[in-house]
Amino acid sequence: MELKDIIVNGLEAINKAETLEQLNEVRIAYLSKKGHLTSVMGQMRNLSNEERPMFGKKVNEVKEKIESAYQQKVSELEAIRLERKMKEDAIDITLPGPEFTIGAQNPLIIIQREIEDVFREMGYQVVEGDEIELDLYNFERANIPQDHPAREMQDTFYIDEHTLLRTHTTAIQTRALEENAPHIPLKVICPGKVYRRDDDDATHSHQFVQTEGLVVGHNITLSDLKGTLSLFAKRMFGDDRVIRFRPSYFQFTEPSVEVDVSCHICNGKGCNVCKHTGWIEILGAGMVHPHVLRDAGYTDPTLTGFAFGAGVERIAMLKYGIEDIRSFYTNDKRFIEQFKRYE
Ligand code: DAH
Repeated sequence: MELKDIIVNGLEAINKAETLEQLNEVRIAYLSKKGHLTSVMGQMRNLSNEERPMFGKKVNEVKEKIESAYQQKVSELEAIRLERKMKEDAIDITLPGPEFTIGAQNPLIIIQREIEDVFREMGYQVVEGDEIELDLYNFERANIPQDHPAREMQDTFYIDEHTLLRTHTTAIQTRALEENAPHIPLKVICPGKVYRRDDDDATHSHQFVQTEGLVVGHNITLSDLKGTLSLFAKRMFGDDRVIRFRPSYFQFTEPSVEVDVSCHICNGKGCNVCKHTGWIEILGAGMVHPHVLRDAGYTDPTLTGFAFGAGVERIAMLKYGIEDIRSFYTNDKRFIEQFKRYE
């Protein structure tokens, strides 16, 4: 092919190429070692010495033109290919994503954590214990000796003569006392499952959750207990709540009280929930009995302490208006899903 045809045909072929593959064929035909430009150089042999530099220069010019047209076309075709690929691979970000479900926490856990948080903020430490417990910590150390009639109040699952399923979180209290004596101040909150031989119905369960609170130190008084529980009642049932103490009896506290909170449903006016009294009983409490402190190793007689024990199911039932205690344990999804916190 003549040089003048190479430039015309070459540029036209580049122009016509629609794909990078076609363009590559043009490159091979014109620019490679076996291409038209190489073979046209062969014509140099037939030229005179004067004509050769001139011809060489022309060949170079043609080569440069074709190369630059080729490079430009490569860029164009690559851009087209990229654009097409992006279109093909495009994701429709407006499509809804796959659905995934978030579990819900059992309301007992929610309430237990809330209780823990209230007391943690007041400097209490959370302490747990074992559900299988020695008679020693469940009863003896709680000032309930063998054969004492108070034992009958808590119908117990015994494993053997000395071992049982703990009947109250007071067992965690007596262990915490022993472990920490004579260190003060002691401020612990003790949540846990407890067991009693009971026939299950809407308000009774052979297994339930309690939370125990305990403080030991100098100058701890009944009014400290009242202030603490008053704050607790407000945090759990609303700022308008007030509490009252009624005298009661527990072996491990002296004096002992039953604590009522003003009804959060009727604001104390009287309704079905508070049985028209305006008050709801939420827990038992008192000043730790001196024997309990002494037997655990707090031998300094000037030390005092208060303790309380609350039923977590009861608080959850009151707070959420749950009527059957068995709802907590039967794993009915319709019940649990009402406590989803994040949607
Ligand atoms: N242990 C008691 C029960 O299960 C609850 C209780 C009452 C715990 C008074 C205490 C307390 O710490 O001071 O019925």
